[in-house]
Amino acid sequence: MLIEPKSLPEVSYEGMNNVHRNEIQILNQLYDALKTNEPEEKINKLLKNFEEDLEKHFSYEEDLMRRTGFFAYECHFEEHNRVRKEVKEFINRWKKNKNNKLLAEYLEETFKNWIVEHVLTMDTVTAQWISTVINGLPFQINQKG
Ligand SMILES: [Fe+2]
Ligand SMILES: [Fe+2]
Repeated sequence: MLIEPKSLPEVSYEGMNNVHRNEIQILNQLYDALKTNEPEEKINKLLKNFEEDLEKHFSYEEDLMRRTGFFAYECHFEEHNRVRKEVKEFINRWKKNKNNKLLAEYLEETFKNWIVEHVLTMDTVTAQWISTVINGLPFQINQKG
C-alpha cells in the first residue's frame, strides 16, 4: 500500500473527497502490482486506470472551479497541468523500459508527497470556496464526483 486511505486529509466539499478516495484506491492497486512484479499486461491496465482516473479527478475540480468562479483558478489549473505532464512522462518511461522499481520509486518519493500536500493546500482552499459559493446558489451541483 502506498497511501493509507485514512491518512489522506479531508476537504470541505464532499464530491472532492469521493474523487480523492477513489484515486487512492486505484493508486494503491497500481503500487502493489509494481511491488509484486505482476505481469506486464496487468500493470499496463492499472496504469491506464490510474491515468484516466487522474484526468477525471483534475477535470472534475477544474470544472467546479470554473462554474464557481474560483479566484485562483489559473494557479490550481497550472499545477494540475504540471502533474499531468510529469505522470505521463513516467508512464511513457515505463512503457519503454518496463522498470517497475523506477515507477514505484516515483510514486513513493514524489507522487505520494505531492498528493498529500496538494490536498492540504490548493484543494483545501478550493473546496472551501466551492462549498461557500454553492451554499449560496439557488441550484444544486452534483456532489457525487
Ligand atoms: Fe484533488
Ligand atoms: Fe487539485
